[in-house]
Parts: sequence; structure tokens; C-alpha cells
Amino acid sequence: MGASLNVSLMKNNIKYNGVVTKEYNSITAENAMKFDALHPAENTFSWNDADYLVSFAQANNKRVHGHTLNWYMALPSWVTNFVGDSTAWENLLKTHIQTVVTYFKGKVKSWDVVNEAFNDDGTLRNSIWVQKLGTDYIARCFQYANQADPDAILFYNDYGHEYSAAKRTAIINMITGFKNRGIPIHGIGMQFHITYTQSDANISAAINSAAATGLKVHISELDIRLNTNLALGLSLTPALAEQQAARYTFIVKTYKAIPTAQQFGITTWNVGDGDSWIPNWQGAPDWPLPFDANYLRKPAYRGIIEGGK
Ligand code: G3I
Repeated sequence: MGASLNVSLMKNNIKYNGVVTKEYNSITAENAMKFDALHPAENTFSWNDADYLVSFAQANNKRVHGHTLNWYMALPSWVTNFVGDSTAWENLLKTHIQTVVTYFKGKVKSWDVVNEAFNDDGTLRNSIWVQKLGTDYIARCFQYANQADPDAILFYNDYGHEYSAAKRTAIINMITGFKNRGIPIHGIGMQFHITYTQSDANISAAINSAAATGLKVHISELDIRLNTNLALGLSLTPALAEQQAARYTFIVKTYKAIPTAQQFGITTWNVGDGDSWIPNWQGAPDWPLPFDANYLRKPAYRGIIEGGK
């Protein structure tokens, strides 16, 4: 069971740090291992925040999942403004991936190699990477990572598996193609940023179709929104909290039913409701996580435990 972590809160909020230390055995950097954080200038790498998380994990016997080697967001301006031919762009991509994976070799055992490369309709996102490197850049990202650390477990990570069959199918087709080509891919990460109204059928379809690939399955960024109408005045009621708990239970139960060898883990996207990206992102209050703003267990926490029984 994992959580994505905010380094500043880990360093400065004793309750946050305490809950993380006690409750989770896997951590993901919410932002500290993204391109802009690690590689702020072409010849400058900045490891401090990531090293802090890795040191914390090692001191507390926790796993570190790396997020993310390639993404269309969180890019520093030197990349978005980079001028070069295709060879120069390929070298930029390879150098970043291989420098980062080599640096964390033996400490970070798994990576989101590529994040969010597809649109919800199943087409490939026309990102800077496609524009500069062509549609097969994804395969090369996995090859570069595997060359740097043959032992690393390499994931493709995305969102929407539970609401877009087209996207789910496109991702699974890519995975099938990679397996046929011998491209080293080992896991499928499903972010699962979902609403509490998402259906059992859609949740099951996402989890079971991911398991059918035979790859390791990571529910990688789980949070369950309650404010589906983006009502500015909505309050968290006991009824809503219990409905949220039931969704956490269903997700965990469904996940635990896939083959054990494929269960990489479930990671929530941050820890307490006050730290979630969602209220700011949606412009309305929400309470998507298992802990409240004071890091006290919500019914959702009990729901997760219930699902694991
Ligand atoms: O660190 C800078 C700070 O120096 C600056 O003063 C401040 C204001 O500009 O920005 C700070 O950086 C912000 C960063 O979070 C750290 O707080 C970025 O602007 C902001 O865009 C960034 O947002 C993150 C977002 O990814 C984009 O990287 C969210 O915290 C994070 O929760 C979100 O996580 C993503 C996953 O990586 C991929 N899946 C979707 C998920 C939610 O969007």
C-alpha cells in the first residue's frame, strides 16, 4: 500500500511524516522525480529532494516507485525551448532517462517510464515527444530505461482506464505490440483518479483487462472524488464518507482477486485530504483520500482494510 509524497510536508509536517512512516510500505514522489525537478538545466541535475525520499524509504524499509521518466508535463523550459535535429532530441531523451535510472539503480526498483501518452479517444497524444521523436518514442523510452537498469520493473502509466474503453484498448494494444517486439515492459499503471459514482462494472473492466495483459498491475494514483457537481458549498457528510469507503472496498477487493504475482500494489495520490491536488485542480472542495486534513483515519481507511480481508 503506497502513497505519493510531498517532500516539503515530509520534512516540515510531523503528523504527515508520522502517518506515512506508520501506514505505508511503498512511496512515490508526487513531484520530486519529474523531469523539471531532477533536470532543471541541460547540464544540471538536482537530486536533493529525491534523495531525501529515497533515504527516508531506505531508513524505514519502504519501496520507492519512480515517477516519471517521460511525460508531456513537468518539463523545464530548456526542454520546451530546445532547438535541435532529431539526433539531438533523441540524445536529450536518452540522456535524461539513462542518467536518472543509473543514479537510482538499486534504490528505485520500478519506474513509470512513460506517463499519459494517449488521449481519451485512444489516439496518441500529440506531445512534444511525438513531434520531435515520432510515435515510436515510447518503445525507445522503455529500451533506454532497461539498458540503464535491467532489473528495474518498467511501467506504462495513464489515467481513464475506468471510463474510456477506447483508451484502455489502445494501451493494451500497445502493450501487446511491445511484447511481440521484445520491448521491455513489465507493468501497467492505472492512475484511478475516479469519482465515487464510477460503476462497479467499469472499475472491474479496468482492473481485469489490465490483469489480462499478464503484466504487473499498479493502481498508481488512487483518489476518489465526492464532489461530482463541483458544488462550492458541498460539505463532507457521514453518508458521503461511507459511500466513499464502499468504493475503496470494492476497488481493493477487485484488485486482490487478480493473480497475486501481478499485484504490484495500490498507491493513493498523496495522504490527507488537505494535501490532495484535486480541490485546486477542480476549483471546488473535495475529500478524496483515506485520511482527513488532520491525518485522522476516515471511513475510507476502514474501507481499504475491509477490501483486503
Ligand atoms: O515547486 C514549484 C514552486 O517553486 C512554485 O513557486 C510553484 C508556483 O508556480 O509551483 C511549484 O511547482 C508545482 C508543483 O506541483 C509542486 O507543488 C507546479 O506548479 C504544479 O504544476 C505541480 O503540480 C503537480 C502536477 O502533477 C504537475 O506536475 C501536482 O502537485 C501533482 O499532484 C500532479 O500529479 C499528477 C501526476 O504526476 C500524473 N498524473 C496526474 C496527477 C495529477 O495531476
